[in-house]
Amino acid sequence: MSKILAVTNQKGGVGKTTTSVNLAASLAATKRRILLIDMDPQGNATMGSGINKHELATTSCDVLLGDAEIDATIISLEDWRYDLLPGNSELTLAEVKLMNMFGREFKLKTALEAVSANYDYIIIDCPSSLNMPISRI
Ligand SMILES: Nc1ncnc2c1ncn2[C@@H]1O[C@H](COP(=O)(O)OP(=O)(O)O)[C@@H](O)[C@H]1O
Ligand SMILES: [Mg+2]
Repeated sequence: MSKILAVTNQKGGVGKTTTSVNLAASLAATKRRILLIDMDPQGNATMGSGINKHELATTSCDVLLGDAEIDATIISLEDWRYDLLPGNSELTLAEVKLMNMFGREFKLKTALEAVSANYDYIIIDCPSSLNMPISRI
């Protein structure tokens, strides 16, 4: 069973993404199996992991909305030795679409159940806001 760490703060520019990416890389370097999740529409954890956020077929948004399978959306980063569930500006859409969806708080938790056995740690880079909670873990 993996440990899930959400890196969160209402304020922007305080080091959430820097912490998330470096924590993922550091734990991966010690042979832990890591999944880094980019939940910020800015997609900085995605770009910081060497993946172009503008060229994603599917994203964490699609997984939240049930439009894509999580294991098909996860990218294995061989150089960095961790896996990434990438995100981009589509995530702003997720908040609107999930607004009236029953059980929206558990969408990410449910999606993670399919892959959590594959990882020692799952690290979630959260956006800088206190808007509607779409990912209660
Ligand atoms: N420990 C640190 N010391 C100095 N600068 C940092 C540190 N952590 C992050 N930064 C810098 O602060 C800025 C914001 O960091 P970032 O991780 O993007 O914040 P957030 O994800 O909370 O918006 C970036 O330019 C980053 O390089
Ligand atoms: Mg950030």
